[in-house]
Amino acid sequence: MNFPIVRHRRLRASRAMRNLVRETSLSVNDLIYPLFVTHGTGIKEEIPSMPGVFHYSLDRLEEELAEINSLGIQAVLLFGVPEHKDAEGTSAFAEDGIVQQATRWIKQRYPEMLVVADTCLCQFTDHGHCGVVVQDAARGQAVIDNDPSLELLARTAVSQAKAGADIIAPSNMMDGFVGAIRAALDEAGFEHVPIMSYSVKYASAFYGPFRDAAHSTPQFGDRKTYQMDPANVREGIREAEADVMEGADFLMVKPALAYMDVIKALKENFDLPLVAYNVSAEYSMVKAAAEKGWIDEKAVVMEMLLGMKRAGADILITYFAKDVVRWLKEG
Ligand code: PBG
Repeated sequence: MNFPIVRHRRLRASRAMRNLVRETSLSVNDLIYPLFVTHGTGIKEEIPSMPGVFHYSLDRLEEELAEINSLGIQAVLLFGVPEHKDAEGTSAFAEDGIVQQATRWIKQRYPEMLVVADTCLCQFTDHGHCGVVVQDAARGQAVIDNDPSLELLARTAVSQAKAGADIIAPSNMMDGFVGAIRAALDEAGFEHVPIMSYSVKYASAFYGPFRDAAHSTPQFGDRKTYQMDPANVREGIREAEADVMEGADFLMVKPALAYMDVIKALKENFDLPLVAYNVSAEYSMVKAAAEKGWIDEKAVVMEMLLGMKRAGADILITYFAKDVVRWLKEG
């Protein structure tokens, strides 16, 4: 018998051969591009820690939307940076709130574009938490009160659906948020609007640049009483199970890069479309290293995103979406 017995390299011999045996691929259909919208006029402001990502006021949104649309990207995820913050985050569910306005703006001009609305309070509350803050007298400290938060989140989701959002994406990590939002949407006549739940969202240091961008850093404490401990994966299954029971249409893992095992675990346990969120610091780290000439940006990004798909993600939310489409076209 000849040695080696198995020759793996036969199937790697040429580009065509490698293409033939490729198990995973990236497509423009997989991508959701996050957008930061803000009040005011004439604003196109680069986020310092996220080169290439901008805040837009509505009157400058056209140039961004035209580019996204011409690239063939079919979905955007909207984050609002409001003018006014208060204890209850009322700008999150105001009819003329920034996300609601931007949604109407996009759906009027680009009716085919899917608008995904991030449903959370942290950008809109003066304390920067994703729910209602109350003083717990017994413990002598401020705590995030779960059930009153649900009511505000449900109002936010309904107002986003009213404005024309195609998908509601709640990222707040309160208990029961999918059920509360589903019930409110149904009651308001939006039973056809799906929920993309940030099911397994970790209390992560990888959101740093986003919080700078969205001005949503908590003013006291941290998010560890509602977002998950990075050490846990079985708990993530329980989170996802609850969301499925409560009527989620998509499940999400966030962040993605350090949580590929969680993506895989969800894929093995559930059959809903699975989203991975390639978050802000995953973007900024690559950009910074690429600027220094330390890495090949295109190769690194494609490898990271392919890894997320290989782990089981069907859909990717990524600040690299526009670059990815260009790179896919280059081949
Ligand atoms: C709001 C929200 C956050 C992100 C998406 N939605 C921040 C947070 O939870 O602190 C992070 C996205 C990113 O880092 O790219 N709750």
